[in-house]
Amino acid sequence: MALNLAEPALLRTQNLIDDQWRDAGLGARLSVSDPATGEAFACVPDSDAGDARLAVDAAAAAFPAWSRRTARERAQLIKRWHALILQHQEDLARIISTEQGKPLKEARGEVLYGASYVEWFAEEATRICGDIVAEAVPGRKLLVLKEPVGVVAAITPWNFPLAMIARKIAPALAAGCTVVAKPAEDTPLTALALAWLAQQAGIPAGVLNMVTASREHTPGVVDAWLLDSRVRKITFTGSTPVGKHLARESAATLKKLSLELGGNAPFIVFEDADLDAAVDGLMASKFRNGGQTCVCPNRVYVHEAVHDDFVERLAQRVGALHVGPATDEAAQIGPMINARAVDKIARHVDDAVTRGARVVTGGKRVRTEDGPHYYAPTVLVDATPAMELSCEETFGPVAPIFRFRDEAEVIRDANDTPFGLAAYFYSNDVRRIWRVAQALETGMVGINEGAIAAEAAPFGGVKESGYGREGSRHGLDDYMHTKYLCQGQLG
Ligand code: SIN
Repeated sequence: MALNLAEPALLRTQNLIDDQWRDAGLGARLSVSDPATGEAFACVPDSDAGDARLAVDAAAAAFPAWSRRTARERAQLIKRWHALILQHQEDLARIISTEQGKPLKEARGEVLYGASYVEWFAEEATRICGDIVAEAVPGRKLLVLKEPVGVVAAITPWNFPLAMIARKIAPALAAGCTVVAKPAEDTPLTALALAWLAQQAGIPAGVLNMVTASREHTPGVVDAWLLDSRVRKITFTGSTPVGKHLARESAATLKKLSLELGGNAPFIVFEDADLDAAVDGLMASKFRNGGQTCVCPNRVYVHEAVHDDFVERLAQRVGALHVGPATDEAAQIGPMINARAVDKIARHVDDAVTRGARVVTGGKRVRTEDGPHYYAPTVLVDATPAMELSCEETFGPVAPIFRFRDEAEVIRDANDTPFGLAAYFYSNDVRRIWRVAQALETGMVGINEGAIAAEAAPFGGVKESGYGREGSRHGLDDYMHTKYLCQGQLG
């Protein structure tokens, strides 16, 4: 597969450690595959614990000088990185589409989305402030400083290969931390391209280090970081079981943690909702990235009074979505990331149908001539809590509709999950809006809005969806600790 990049140097196939592009110490390689066909088109290092430790050596050595730079200097370098990301938007979008499968149009959007976090945190770097506290005792001064935590390990998922790593690295660098990063095994090329751009921007040696590893070698890399007391923070986006493992294993060195984990988002359409707006919102949130998004609605609750009308309007829109290869400019839904992903979607739909759901549109694999990983955008009705798709993220283009009768019932069902990342609801009743927004047990709520993520907003969950926030001023705070100074004898 030819990427046809305007800047061929963006295609990096080695680790970046201490400003050097290197192979894995043992020379092992990992194939990167086209998600549609499963065919390998590039190779990157399959790193192990030795490579992971070398990356920490570099990050730990770079930390004192980087953290002592002025906030303005760090901000200027991060802004240069931001400008280069924008300059190479088209190439980066091609890399994202090729390794992850999202349509080019969406990949271009992802570059802008990720870049917005880089710009935001460059600006926030210069606004880091502590406090001067009124003294309780005469002759004393009480000051609160914000300091970078130290070396940060960033472990990122495949669904947003650029945005997820950008919104971890940018605040870390802005705060004065140095970074070791490991992108997902399915999508290492976008991350390596970003690292190359950071190098071109003048981010100093050792401040940003990146190693790639296969699913088999990832535990070795991550365990090396978990055990290393020089790594002071882990930031992770991915599954809840892995997040729990990181929390358990980092206890030995009590690292700071940010965990953005699985979701099971409810999307509620009340009887007083604007149905066209609700359909628009569901299309935007459910079918973004083919439904492979932690915040995408997994359970759609529709009031019985508007159920049939809503389903009819939704099915028309979903049935018209164009499924196709990521490089097809008209495609709106690309292939799923791999065979495991498409098998899980098929399993969830089959289980739902066996337990009484009805397929209104979709419900099958499609475009098999282009590869085995395409699944038709699907609407199911008569979904119930007994179905697998009600308890577990489907992570695919499937909208199961649950019919409900009253507000108390739907709030109870929406909260009846261990997860608490995002929730959405549509209503035009202002009293209900406040009641429901407060009753939903999630870190984020979209009210008459399906697209909620933004660099200025705190992204993150509650319950088993994790803790810590990305974006906003809270996202910078997660990379700093608070130091209290008490100076006496001043009276
Ligand atoms: C995710 O799926 O984890 C992130 C989605 C987003 O940033 O909107």
